[in-house]
Amino acid sequence: MISYKTLGLVNTREMFKKAVKGGYAIPAFNFNNMEQLQAIIMAAVETKSPVILQVSRGARDYANQTLLRYMAEGAVEYAKELGCAKPEIVLHLDHGDSFETCKSCIDMGFSSVMIDGSHLPYDENVALTKKVVEYAHQFDVTVEGELGVLAGVEDEVSAEESHYTKPEEVVDFVTKTGCDSLAISIGTSHGAYKFTPEQCTVDPETGRLLPPPLAFDVLEAIEKELPGFPIVLHGSSSVPQDDVDTINKYGGKMVAAVGIPEEQLRKAAKSAVCKINIDSDSRLAMTAAVRKALAEKPAEFDPRKYLGPARASMKELYMHKIVNVLGSNDKI
Ligand code: G3H
Ligand code: 13P
Ligand code: ZN
Repeated sequence: MISYKTLGLVNTREMFKKAVKGGYAIPAFNFNNMEQLQAIIMAAVETKSPVILQVSRGARDYANQTLLRYMAEGAVEYAKELGCAKPEIVLHLDHGDSFETCKSCIDMGFSSVMIDGSHLPYDENVALTKKVVEYAHQFDVTVEGELGVLAGVEDEVSAEESHYTKPEEVVDFVTKTGCDSLAISIGTSHGAYKFTPEQCTVDPETGRLLPPPLAFDVLEAIEKELPGFPIVLHGSSSVPQDDVDTINKYGGKMVAAVGIPEEQLRKAAKSAVCKINIDSDSRLAMTAAVRKALAEKPAEFDPRKYLGPARASMKELYMHKIVNVLGSNDKI
């Protein structure tokens, strides 16, 4: 058993309290590799932002859970080296699928876990989440639960159809499970294809697809039921069209990729939404930069020559999210 506290990590409790009170949201960025992690830490240090490093099932399969944990430990030291005396970094399990997965992450030094029982019948979701909370809280590890189902077309964590969170269930769920934060469904979804063209309208000026708005009425109803309780938004990438264009210009084929407009995320960040999950935008920034670098320098074969620009591009993206969308800058 390794306590995250000895690794210099923190849990989400204080962070969320301050974010809800301050009307901003903490960035939760997924990471799978060193360049992504470096970019996240550089961006967080430069903007003086707390940050949540998220490890998904895909990341654990790709990079190995143990290695990712040591990378996060290294990230704390790296942040200090970059000039942040007291970094606020959470290591979080994203979409934990079972008690055993959550336990194994808690035991190896994660400071926060999500147990995603959103696909289960309500009572089973309650029972599983409660079990994880009871274990996690013994070690002061915070737990994110989920109610409602996100739609999506890409990831293992997707469903065919979305089901908005039912505001009438949230108090019962939070009371029975004791979870520290709650992921909800109000129209976001995972991946870079969040809406079908049929669900969108077309911007007459740009010809771009304009997605339908998020269900802010549902969010408001949830906030009324649970005043001040930390709410989490998954599937919050905006799918920057510049990156999509760059990918397509250099040989990619991303058709009708569309995300959540930033002004809607800005509005959400000012509410009880205090954690906003972003993964796909980083993938897009990285892919666009790699495609461009390889296309422009076809003789290059040193990975640092294309992963370097990719890292720079991700750093710029993370800084933009922190400063211009979530508002978590200057909080450390
Ligand atoms: O929630 C989904 C994340 O984007 C992680 O996806 O399992 O492909 O790493 P992944
Ligand atoms: P995006 O696919 O919109 O980046 O969402 C990521 C996410 O919710 C991770 O849990
Ligand atoms: Zn998610």
